[in-house]
Amino acid sequence: MDHTKEKIVVSGMRPTGRLHLGNYFGALRNFVDLQNKYKCYFFVADLHALTTAAENTDDLAANSEQMIIDWLAAGVDPEKCAIFIQSHVPQVSELTTLLGMITPLGWLLRNPTYKEQLNELFRKKYAGQEDKVAAEKMAMLSEAELSEMSSFGFLGYPVLMATDILIHKAAYVPVGQDQTAHMEIARDIARRFNDIYSTDTLFEPKPLFTSVPKVPGLDGRKMSKSYGNTIDLGEDPAAVRKKVMSMFTDPNKQRANDPANPEGCTVYAFHKIYNPDYQKRCEECKAGALGCVACKKHLFELMEKEITEFNKRRAFYESDKALLNKILERGAQQARESAEATLKEVKKVMKLL
Ligand code: TRP
Repeated sequence: MDHTKEKIVVSGMRPTGRLHLGNYFGALRNFVDLQNKYKCYFFVADLHALTTAAENTDDLAANSEQMIIDWLAAGVDPEKCAIFIQSHVPQVSELTTLLGMITPLGWLLRNPTYKEQLNELFRKKYAGQEDKVAAEKMAMLSEAELSEMSSFGFLGYPVLMATDILIHKAAYVPVGQDQTAHMEIARDIARRFNDIYSTDTLFEPKPLFTSVPKVPGLDGRKMSKSYGNTIDLGEDPAAVRKKVMSMFTDPNKQRANDPANPEGCTVYAFHKIYNPDYQKRCEECKAGALGCVACKKHLFELMEKEITEFNKRRAFYESDKALLNKILERGAQQARESAEATLKEVKKVMKLL
C-alpha cells in the first residue's frame, strides 16, 4: 500500500454471493479508481452478513472468497490498497463494543433501514404468501414480537459499520445512496465520542456518492439478484450472449426497421456503457436503421472481449488459493495495524486501564 497518499478511504461489501454487472459498475469499478488516489481499505463485511443470517453460515466463507476473487479480477490491486476480510481484524469487534457504549439506543431504533430490513426478514419468513398478508401481519405485530425476530447485532449494524470507518480515520466512504442513514450515524457517533471525551480522536467521514451509469437488469427493472435479472461477474460468454439476446427492448418496435425509443431500452442502456459510439446508435434506433437482434449482437460483441479477459483473471485467482490467502493475510495485517493505533487512542481517551 502506498503510504504517501494522505486521505483515507474505507469501504466494504456484504458477501451476499456472486456480484453482478450492477455491482461492478455501481461500486467495484469505483474501488479500482479510488485506489490510485487514496489510501484505501476495502473489505468483505462478513460480520455484517451475520447480522441477518447468523443461523445459516454454510456459504459464508465461500461467498467471502468469491467476492475477493471478483475484486481482484476487476483490478482491485493488493499492491495499492489493503484488501481484507472484516472478521480478520478483531480490533473492529473490540471498538464496536466501546462505541456501542456511547451510541444512544434511539439512534438505532430510529434508523430507517432497521425497520425496512426487519420487514424484509419478515417477508422471507413468510415467503410464498401474498405481500399484503405479510404487511398486515407485520402491522399487527407488537414491538415485543418484532424484537424477537431481530438480534442485538442486527440493531447494532450501524455501530459496526461506523467502527469499520472510524477505526481507520477515513475521510471518504464510497457507498450507495441506500447507506445515507448509516453514514449519518457514523458521523454522529464520531462527533458524540469527541464531545463526550473532549477530544479529536475520531474523524467525521464523508460519503462519496459517485455518479454511476444506470445498469438495468435484463427485464428493464433495476439489476438485482432478487429479481433474477442479472448478468453475473464470471458468467461464461455463451450464457451472457443468451441473456443479451433476451434483453427487454422498446415493445412498440415490431419490425426490424420500425423506429423506436432507445430511452427505456435495456440494450441501449448497455450500449451507453460499452459502446463509445452510443450516440450514433441512439440516432440509428430512432430512425429505425437497424433491428433489435442486430443491435443485441453488436452489444454482445462489444462485451465479449472484456468478459473473456475478466474470466481469465478470475480463473487465475480461483486456481491459486495460496496466493489468495497471502493477499488476504497481508491486507488484514495492514488493517490490523491501522485499527490497533486508533483502538489504543480510544481506550486511552476512555481511561481504560
Ligand atoms: N452496509 C454496507 C452495505 O450494505 C456495507 C458496509 C459495511 C460498509 N461496513 C461498511 C460500507 C463500511 C462502507 C463502509 O452496502
